[in-house]
Amino acid sequence: MRIKLFQEKDTLVVGLFQDEKQSVVDEVNKHLNGFVTDGIKDGEISTSYSQITKIWPMGQCETKRIYFIGLGKKNSLDRTLYRKAFGKLFQRLQADHVTKVSIAMDSVIPADLNKEECASLITESMGTATYQLAHFKTGKRKDLPYIDSLTIVTESEEEDLLLPLAEGYAFSKGVNTARHLVHSPSNLLTATAMAEYARELALMHDFSIDVLEKEQMEEQGMGALLAVNQGSEEPPAMIVLKYQGIEDWKDVTAFVGKGVTYDTGGYSIKPKTGMPGMKGDMGGAAAVLGAMETIGRVKPKANILAVIPSTDNMISGTAFKPDDVITSLSGRTIEVLNTDAEGRLALADAVTYAKQLGAERIIDVATLTGGMVTALGSWMTGALTNQQDLYRQVEELGAHMGEPIWQLPYNDDYREQVRKSDIADLNNSPTRKAHPIMGGAFIGEFAEDTPWVHLDIAGTSMAESRHELGPKGPTGVMARTLAAFAMRN
Ligand code: BES
Ligand code: MN
Ligand code: ZN
Repeated sequence: MRIKLFQEKDTLVVGLFQDEKQSVVDEVNKHLNGFVTDGIKDGEISTSYSQITKIWPMGQCETKRIYFIGLGKKNSLDRTLYRKAFGKLFQRLQADHVTKVSIAMDSVIPADLNKEECASLITESMGTATYQLAHFKTGKRKDLPYIDSLTIVTESEEEDLLLPLAEGYAFSKGVNTARHLVHSPSNLLTATAMAEYARELALMHDFSIDVLEKEQMEEQGMGALLAVNQGSEEPPAMIVLKYQGIEDWKDVTAFVGKGVTYDTGGYSIKPKTGMPGMKGDMGGAAAVLGAMETIGRVKPKANILAVIPSTDNMISGTAFKPDDVITSLSGRTIEVLNTDAEGRLALADAVTYAKQLGAERIIDVATLTGGMVTALGSWMTGALTNQQDLYRQVEELGAHMGEPIWQLPYNDDYREQVRKSDIADLNNSPTRKAHPIMGGAFIGEFAEDTPWVHLDIAGTSMAESRHELGPKGPTGVMARTLAAFAMRN
């Protein structure tokens, strides 16, 4: 971090509000002989929200290029708009092959955000917006360079901003971890490979890790997860990461993520148009591992369990079938009516296991139902809860982190549906009616009295096109909200 504005020789970013000129802009203006005020007057430099104007001072100052970013009205920028404006800016810088940037920090602080918050949002959007997904193209595609130096130019004590800058960056790392995992094809990202990834994460951040193998699951009686795995050549994995940020192992929050590495639907097979994309059916697991990446960097004062039931959902002579009755880890029996409602089966055992390991509250994240895509589209994550207070915290953090959440109803009428079976305690797929709620309600049977929030990210885990904060494809949604939950005190 530097104090002087034009020390950075490469690239300077200056923010321009429509209704108020910051004193730092005066300074820039003076250096450029009135160029900025003239430019704004002539309409050559825009102060409108997220409009970018690039100039070359051509020797008038030591800085090679200056990017002005319009920020609109000073009191109309919220966190979401702020992220998007900077996401767009960083994407432009990346497209221009700029790798070293200085930001005139005092020019980019809107009315409703303080400098620390802005600093965090800037590194967060830099990391998320410029991320490029891995690929297997031989030779053809060239990646753009990443920004490797960010200088914050500010009058204030520089130490103030180091922590928020690191925090914002840690959030982006979590998001990109989740994106990378969702993007990985299932022939490469098997349950075993996901466990291996979790092991590396544990090593890096000093988490404890335990991966249950198939035999151990059999011993414990994880019949629901095992049923989903039954048709597969690939062994399943129950991955448990433990982060202890408080001296005693108490007040434990469990993040439970659906880790279905591929969902063919099983014998209730998906149509050929419904299958592509199902490598992303471990989006919940990815969000949980992404959150753990952030948590490992930020080290909040909290106790967190990450529980990930992982398997693919395949067909073979050994696969489970509709009409099968299976026994879950909780001891309750389940009539399988649809092998494509596999996520709730895997999650049932994971939720029970999380409780056995001492979870006092549970947040599960899953690409659970196509119905949620129909209901809320790609704009909001749908939620169910058995405890309104916990839900409200999660909802607020979601809004804060730019990952909006919408609650669906959950009551005895719905519970009754998943309890309907002539032959077992529960059924895994009552009816097409309200099926996003039925899916959640099924998991709720296993949460029982433990405070629980269910987040169905089927619609939000994938972006149909490139956007201000990332590429087309996996969004890494809920990695940030979960991490923020761990950091909430
Ligand atoms: N993984 C799917 C849900 C899904 C669909 C995620 C589309 C992302 C995009 C899930 O396992 C599934 O197949 N759900 C069924 C539930 C039904 C059988 C009650 C569905 O949505 O049709
Ligand atoms: Mn399915
Ligand atoms: Zn699925």
